[in-house]
Amino acid sequence: MKRTHTCGELRVEHVGQTVILNGWVDNWRDHGGIIFIDLRDRYGKTQVVFYPENGAVYPAAKKLRSEYVIAVKGEVQARPSEAVNPKLATGEVEIRVEELELLNVSRVPPFEIKDYVDASEDLRLQYRYLDLRRPRLQRNMILRHRIAQFTRRFFSEEGFIEIETPFLTKSTPEGARDFLVPSRLHQGKFYALPQSPQTYKQILMVSGFDKYYQIVKCFRDEDLRKDRQPEFTQIDLEMSFVDEDDVMGVVERYIQQLFRQLFDEDIPIPFPRIPYREAMERYGSDKPDLRFDLELTEVTDVFKGTEFKVFAKVVQSGGYIGALSVPQAWDFSRKQIDQLGKYVENLGGGGLAHMKWVDGRWEGGISKFLSEKEHQALKAVLPEAGNALVLLVADAHREAAQGILGNLRLRLAEELGFIDKSVKKFHWIVDFPLLEYDEEEHRYVARHHPFTSPKYEDINKLETHPEQVRARAYDLIFNGNEIAGGSIRIHTRDMQEKMFQLLKITPQEAERKFGFLMEAFQYGAPPHGGIAFGFDRLVMLIADANSIRDVIAFPKTASAVGLMENTPSEVDPKQLKELGISIKNK
Ligand code: AMO
Repeated sequence: MKRTHTCGELRVEHVGQTVILNGWVDNWRDHGGIIFIDLRDRYGKTQVVFYPENGAVYPAAKKLRSEYVIAVKGEVQARPSEAVNPKLATGEVEIRVEELELLNVSRVPPFEIKDYVDASEDLRLQYRYLDLRRPRLQRNMILRHRIAQFTRRFFSEEGFIEIETPFLTKSTPEGARDFLVPSRLHQGKFYALPQSPQTYKQILMVSGFDKYYQIVKCFRDEDLRKDRQPEFTQIDLEMSFVDEDDVMGVVERYIQQLFRQLFDEDIPIPFPRIPYREAMERYGSDKPDLRFDLELTEVTDVFKGTEFKVFAKVVQSGGYIGALSVPQAWDFSRKQIDQLGKYVENLGGGGLAHMKWVDGRWEGGISKFLSEKEHQALKAVLPEAGNALVLLVADAHREAAQGILGNLRLRLAEELGFIDKSVKKFHWIVDFPLLEYDEEEHRYVARHHPFTSPKYEDINKLETHPEQVRARAYDLIFNGNEIAGGSIRIHTRDMQEKMFQLLKITPQEAERKFGFLMEAFQYGAPPHGGIAFGFDRLVMLIADANSIRDVIAFPKTASAVGLMENTPSEVDPKQLKELGISIKNK
């Protein structure tokens, strides 16, 4: 009994036809001796009905259970008006079953196949094949497919060529830990799985491909979060003879067309560009959520010469004091404020000071430690508002304090419902510092990666004030999530060598890791630049999913474990022997 239609297809116009459906038993009900089943497949659900007078089929129907796989043949009939189900696309019809074939049985599933299940995520991941039967996950995977198809079409039409790059490769420069693959043929040597195709795509520019793209897996052995997986997918681009505007322009057109063609939604372009410093000063984040207004205010100057010890110390050390003034939180209780304090501690902050502006005067929190002059000065620098809760964070490190205020800003927005979930805000963060100082390693490291070009006007500061040099880099932010990052690259060997020197990468190390790229640069490398999207993140945000795990068919847990297939796992001693590997301390 091969199907003539899918379970999402039948409508009133099919009434009277005899059809065959195949699918899973979604729901089994006995109403006064008549058996009703919702038959499910990827396309939808259809109600099929077994009447007792059909002696050949009815007893078999009684034995059907959830997730059994069946084929039914019967006539499509209109449902009586009171039985129409407006929630189902097929809800106006049902099938009066004449023949039934049991294609397979099923054990009782560990959770129900429906959108809202209270099973733990671990259980769902262990039985991912059942989890993936749930309509929500099916929708997510289909959405992912549509976005991938659109992406291929769009970039192909823009003149980009899809070229695959190796997975068995060398360490790549994104700064996370590598996953290594031991070589059997060359014992003691290892391939690294690519953290991105960065070096290959730059070499493809040297080869003259001009515009490259790829939807590609990347591998990073890093701490996982709900928006990070050890293997994830990028939409990766590179272009020759371009500047920032060209790369950002094609990305803006891509986003605009994506929303227009798939969702009939208008996203205005170009996206605003916010310099990194400004984003930190105003929002305390390099990926600020601009769906709401709340901004940070620097109040360091208010506390010059203060008697309040904690702040005095920070001011003397050249640090920063910042404030968030939140009118909607003016009536927060002691307990609510304590919780914010705990939150700051968990973020690694020294502490959270607060006071309230209520009916024209300061009260509570640290207000009693401050002078009248400080009270007035504070009121004068904060945004004009009625009653408000003012939260203050002080730290010797400016960006550390701003980061904490940025996190508080987000938390308060969630708690107080400032975020309009229907709004879509895209913007760029530009003018990133090229380098950042690594306190542990006592050296500068590349903020993006070591192939990112400095801004021309800052090149003269490379040796004297490396921390002031800005990069030709850009990140794309969508509702407070970094969904893409890229840069204009260094394309001359001289500049690349200078960069390695600054990063204290020895010529030997540079040669060993990136010698092939440096060599390629000596054979006419064109100026070039590119960007990569986190594809899973983009799909997660469009699907309004809570985690990228919900848009990846077979994701790993937060501890990088595959619960269904049980990875990572031990291997056969014979395999280890062939690889020349022995495991210590087991
Ligand atoms: P970057 O490291 O910024 O740049 O990565 C690009 C985008 O990939 C996503 N992303 C991740 N998504 C899920 N899980 C992860 N572990 C993960 N890590 C990163 C983010 C990020 O914006 N080669 C450069 C790009 C370039 O310069 O062209 C690169 O990989 O959304």
